[in-house]
Amino acid sequence: MDEATPLLEVNNLHTHFFTKSGVVKAVDGVDFTINPGETLGIVGESGSGKSITAMSILGLIPSPPGKITEGEVIFKGEDLLHKSERQMRKIRGKEIAMVFQDPMTSLNPVFTVEKQMMETILAHEPVSKKQAKQRAIELLDLVGIPDPRKRLKDYPHEFSGGMRQRVMIAMALSCNPSLLIADEPTTALDVTIQAQILELFKKMQTELNMAIVMITHDLGVVSEVCDRVMVMYAGKPVEYTETSHLFDRGKHPYTLGLMNSIPKISTEKQKLEAIHGSPPDLRYLPRGCSFAPRCKHAMESCLTIDPALKKIDTDHYVSCLLYDEAKKKVTT
Ligand SMILES: Nc1ncnc2c1ncn2[C@@H]1O[C@H](COP(=O)(O)OP(=O)(O)O)[C@@H](O)[C@H]1O
Ligand SMILES: [Mg+2]
Repeated sequence: MDEATPLLEVNNLHTHFFTKSGVVKAVDGVDFTINPGETLGIVGESGSGKSITAMSILGLIPSPPGKITEGEVIFKGEDLLHKSERQMRKIRGKEIAMVFQDPMTSLNPVFTVEKQMMETILAHEPVSKKQAKQRAIELLDLVGIPDPRKRLKDYPHEFSGGMRQRVMIAMALSCNPSLLIADEPTTALDVTIQAQILELFKKMQTELNMAIVMITHDLGVVSEVCDRVMVMYAGKPVEYTETSHLFDRGKHPYTLGLMNSIPKISTEKQKLEAIHGSPPDLRYLPRGCSFAPRCKHAMESCLTIDPALKKIDTDHYVSCLLYDEAKKKVTT
């Protein structure tokens, strides 16, 4: 992995929900690192544990029924899992900010944007009201809202969906976070607006040198903005590498399925095909590889051995027995 000191290091994270009908292993062994200024994509189908990974980092898991049963979340050298709620409240919004799919979950409909932005800035920064207002105007300008001084007086519902998402991003940026976690920030937007918001993320990367975790179910979004990417399936990373690497040399059958193609892992000619079937019930995971029931390449050993994430190349990790020579030989 990279030589630089990571900004965030997530090690062996397990977040489970203890429900009446069983234990939901929403996150079940996630590892990744993010360096300062880097954008990491977390991609996978709905229910693969992306949001729960983000919420675990931020200390927002509802408990009960949720519990982080194992792992570390090292941010700037300190394990966030050992912080108190009070300490986490200081970190959220200041050091680590979050943008959600639906801006209305973060914006309060009964207050003007000015009031909400000023409140956030004043809560975290030692500035006067006048300076806070100036900062709010600058931020709205930065995220591309025309006539920001005037728009500050508006209520959230007076903005269009795309503009509202920009307001939320401006609020997330208001305290200069070193890490921004964006959970499906463009999913609710139509494609042209989505492209504009992705442009905004790119601009933020170059101008603010902020690290971003971009959560999405869309590999197109990953290819637009991410330096590296972790593909998740059923609560686990199945592939983890540089974005260009993933698109050129992606290996995991699930990754290739997401790309709407079929792996070139054997010598036979194969045609394009999407993934069939649906993700497993996280309460009753199969004994071996979680993807095996949907995988065209599943071998007998895949039904009994749960593959570990294994380094197959520089900065390229895959959890699949097809790429684990030792296990493959022993068991096939
Ligand atoms: N409060 C909860 N109680 C039980 N299961 C939950 C709870 N919150 C999330 N889950 C389960 O955790 C799994 C992962 O969810 P999530 O991280 O939201 O997926 P996504 O990848 O779509 O963001 C899902 O199966 C979801 O049903
Ligand atoms: Mg989600």
